Amino acid sequence: MIELLNIKKGFGDKEILKDVTATMAAGKINLIIGSSGSGKTVLMKCIVGLIEVDSGKVLYSGQDFTAMDNHQRKEIRKEIGMLFQGSALFDSMTVEQNVMFPLDMFSSERLRDKKKRVQEVLDRVNLNEAGKKFPAEISGGMKKRVGIARAIVLNPKYLFCDEPNSGLDPQTSLVIDKLIKELTVEYNITTVMNTHDMNTVMESGDHIVYMFEGKKQWEGNNEEIIFSKDKRLNDFIFASEFLQDAKEMRQMEVFKDKNWRDKLKASNDQLDADREEKR
Ligand SMILES: Nc1ncnc2c1ncn2[C@@H]1O[C@H](COP(=O)(O)OP(=O)(O)OP(=O)(O)O)[C@@H](O)[C@H]1O
Ligand SMILES: [Mg+2]
Repeated sequence: MIELLNIKKGFGDKEILKDVTATMAAGKINLIIGSSGSGKTVLMKCIVGLIEVDSGKVLYSGQDFTAMDNHQRKEIRKEIGMLFQGSALFDSMTVEQNVMFPLDMFSSERLRDKKKRVQEVLDRVNLNEAGKKFPAEISGGMKKRVGIARAIVLNPKYLFCDEPNSGLDPQTSLVIDKLIKELTVEYNITTVMNTHDMNTVMESGDHIVYMFEGKKQWEGNNEEIIFSKDKRLNDFIFASEFLQDAKEMRQMEVFKDKNWRDKLKASNDQLDADREEKR
């Protein structure tokens, strides 16, 4: 579990993150959603320590990451994989070399074993043929998969993905979502994903944090989101008529399940209990 406690961050005199407290559930896909400029990338960079917070704490399994020096942080960093907004591959390196990079940084294994590991993860993301290619020679969806392979090569406990679907067609987006979902379950990873993609929200939102102008406006899951009365959240999520219809259809589906009230109450009670426990 990752806990964010009262995170504040500003640049110059501009406040960007305004007292954000939220929890990222262990072994689940945790989504950070919100409109462009709401602070998702800044928040993610604060969680992994690429940006220092002004105040507040980030706890990894109860350990205060914010209070650690660089040497102590390295131990946690080894357990973090990150897919950046826009993939951020090294253009001058082949696919294999890109995926090898974190192993060269953090692993003391023999070259033969590192190469084997690179091949394993490339196979896992269905890129076994592309190892010798350069980023300029592959498609956007393939680049994302290389980014994912690089992010999981060290067997991370935590996986951060900043907009893994941006710029992809709907079908390729689904492939990427499915891959991230499978990896999260297969390796029991705590995944944190920034997204605008409503499909991802409904299909993968085990836990969702909605950001509005640097504040956490709402927190819940993909079942609760369709019953939420929060106006800002509704305006953001169900922005079009088509999505309003989809929401009503989902509600009706849940209504058909006669236990829906109990389910909803149980999950709300659980959320309340978790919040209470944190206080
Ligand atoms: N290094 C920086 N210096 C100054 N301002 C910054 C810096 N990084 C981000 N900001 C500002 O912080 C705000 C939030 O930016 P952020 O990139 O977190 O938004 P976002 O929610 O990820 O948006 P998008 O959906 O477009 O990726 C923006 O107003 C941005 O201009
Ligand atoms: Mg962003």
